[in-house]
Amino acid sequence: MARRAQIIGWGKCVPERVMTNFELERLVDTSDQWIRTRTGIVERRIAGPGETTFSLALGAALEAIEVADINPARIDMVIVATSTPDYGAFPSVASLVQHAIGATNAGAFDLNAACSGFAYGFAVAGDMIASGNHRTILLIGAETMSRIIDWTDRSTCVLFGDGAGAVVLQATDGEAGVLSTVLGSDGSGAHLLCVPAGGSRLPASPDTVAARQHYIRMDGREVYRFAVNVMSRAAREAIARAGLSLEDIDLFIPHQANIRIIQSAARSLDLPPEKVFVNVDRYGNTSSASIPIALCEALEQGRIHPSDHLVFVGFGAGLSWGAAVVQWGVPVPPQRRRSLEATSQQCMSLSP
Ligand code: ACO
Repeated sequence: MARRAQIIGWGKCVPERVMTNFELERLVDTSDQWIRTRTGIVERRIAGPGETTFSLALGAALEAIEVADINPARIDMVIVATSTPDYGAFPSVASLVQHAIGATNAGAFDLNAACSGFAYGFAVAGDMIASGNHRTILLIGAETMSRIIDWTDRSTCVLFGDGAGAVVLQATDGEAGVLSTVLGSDGSGAHLLCVPAGGSRLPASPDTVAARQHYIRMDGREVYRFAVNVMSRAAREAIARAGLSLEDIDLFIPHQANIRIIQSAARSLDLPPEKVFVNVDRYGNTSSASIPIALCEALEQGRIHPSDHLVFVGFGAGLSWGAAVVQWGVPVPPQRRRSLEATSQQCMSLSP
């Protein structure tokens, strides 16, 4: 039996502050009805002044470590998928988390593949474990998208939210675990979704700030077109690589960007609604955090059982995409579900 990675711990942390569509109506020329019908989003979480990508990542990590029931000193690697790190260049969020959780024997690095970040991190962590060089990896998707949103741009500010989700992956020789991964990129679409300034091409200056170039710019229609196409394509490819067929899939956990994109992918994959997990209505697009937050909620709701086949699919800036097929391997006792709700409350008060 090949060595593979399996998920043994999971956790999420979202800011306490809820921002509804009605609040956005007071900020920009939009309406609750437009946002609901075009995106499926009803509300999103927004980080408070003391919260950062690190504090959300830490909350999710602590919960995942508790579920995994492991000593943090046994973690070999901490990976944080994020495009909104605490610091522009360095240190990495992963290093901050590594120190805060006492993962004294771990390496740490951030990975930026925008909204595909968790899918990329999952593939990287899975391969690191399958190689035999690593045994236990903490993978986190964490974002404070609210800090790079232009709150005067109605075409983007209604879409995003903040949050973090984490998984602990561990080596197993059993049948369950990561069965396949697919990663892709099409840099010809780099301009479609971009934060123009703050990097080496256009360093921060009074002019870039005045021109609002440190915020997200997006061609929504083109990204939409790309997303509906790539979601089903990447899922099919990952399922085929796992040696499975669509009928074998028990739960599809897509990146939560827009309900219409999710529904269109589900239609194309011929998946009934009960096999598709959706929580974009409550969180909006949390970028690399959306899949692990959705995974946690699917577990909390009892929608995942041992031996189930799950498909994760992400897409985002780059353009980039990633998918994975996982066979679920560990039980989710009901008391664990209750304790997760309690720790979710606790993590909200964490700050860096
Ligand atoms: N409220 C009211 N009207 C709006 C709003 C708003 N918030 N935003 C745009 N409009 C207007 C537009 O100005 C346009 O008006 P016009 O016809 O007079 O020009 C009209 O609504 C329709 O605009 P469209 O862009 O055609 O609307 P569409 O149905 O495509 O929905 C949306 C826009 C929701 C952005 C959609 O295109 C989408 O979801 N795209 C994908 C975005 C995405 O998933 N990004 C994820 C990647 S994230 C990452 O990697 C960081």
